[in-house]
Amino acid sequence: MIFPTPHTPHPTTSLAGVPTSIKGAGIGLRSLHYQYILTQKPKVNWFEVISDNYLGDGGLPLYHLGKIRQDYPINLHGVGLSLGSTDPLNRGYLTRLKKLATSMEPDWVSEHLSWISINGHYLNDLIPLLYTEEVLKHVASRILQVQEFLGRPILIENPSPYLTFTDSTMTEWEFVEELVKKTDCYLLLDINNVYVNAINNRFDPLDYLDGIPATRVKEIHLAGYQEQENYLLDTHGYPVHPPVWQLYQAALARFGAVPTLIEWDTDIPSFEVLMAEANKAQQFLAKVC
Ligand SMILES: [Fe+2]
Repeated sequence: MIFPTPHTPHPTTSLAGVPTSIKGAGIGLRSLHYQYILTQKPKVNWFEVISDNYLGDGGLPLYHLGKIRQDYPINLHGVGLSLGSTDPLNRGYLTRLKKLATSMEPDWVSEHLSWISINGHYLNDLIPLLYTEEVLKHVASRILQVQEFLGRPILIENPSPYLTFTDSTMTEWEFVEELVKKTDCYLLLDINNVYVNAINNRFDPLDYLDGIPATRVKEIHLAGYQEQENYLLDTHGYPVHPPVWQLYQAALARFGAVPTLIEWDTDIPSFEVLMAEANKAQQFLAKVC
C-alpha cells in the first residue's frame, strides 16, 4: 500500500434506513435541479453525482446532496483522479473522496480511463491514453492503489477520444479487458462514448461490446453528442441519439439489465426532459428483465 490509511471521520449524515441499492434507470444530479428534487420528490431510481463537486468541507452543494441522499441511492463519479497521469496519485484528493464515500455510502465509485494532470497542473479535459503494455501496467498499478486506499473496487469508464495513437499496440477494448484482469476493477460502459469513438475512429461499435468482459459491466451511461461536419462531438448536451439507443439495446442483450444513467452536462434541460429520457431507458431495461 502506498498511502497510510487515513483517519476516517464518522459520517456527518445518519444513513439509517436510506435507500442503498442502484437498480434501473437513474439521472445525473445537477445543481440546477436540487430544489425541484427536494420539493417534488420525483420518482427516480437513483442519482449519480460528479464527486469532485462535493469534496469540500461543507457548503451548499454538500448540504443539498446530504438532503437528497435521505431519499435516493447515490453513486459517485469522478473526473480528478487522473489515473493515466505520471504525476503521483493525489493523496489529498483520495482522502477527500474516501470521506465523501464514507458519508454518502454509494453502491460504487467510478473514474475515467484517461488522464487530466501533468506536473501538478490540472487540465479541463480528459486526455486519452496510448494503449500499450507499458501504459497498461502503469494504469493498473494506480487502480490497485486507489482500490486499496478506498477499500473497494472501482468502476472504470471508457472515454471518447477524438484520435488514436499510431504507437498503440492494442485496441481500447483489448486494453480494458487486460485492465480488468490485472485489477479486478469493474466497468462503467458509456454507450454514447463507444458510438462517438467508433464513428470518429472508424471501428464497429459491436466489436467493442464483444471485446470487453461482459460480467464486469456494472453501469451504463447514455448521453447526447453534437454532430459536426466530419466528426461527432461528445457534448452531453442533447437527448440520446437513435443510433445510441440502438447500440444500448445491443448492450443490454449482451450484458443484461445493467443500471443505466442519463448523463446531461451542458445546456441542461428541465428535470421533466431528463425523466423522459430515463423512462425511455427504463422501458428498454424492462424488456430485458
Ligand atoms: Fe459517461
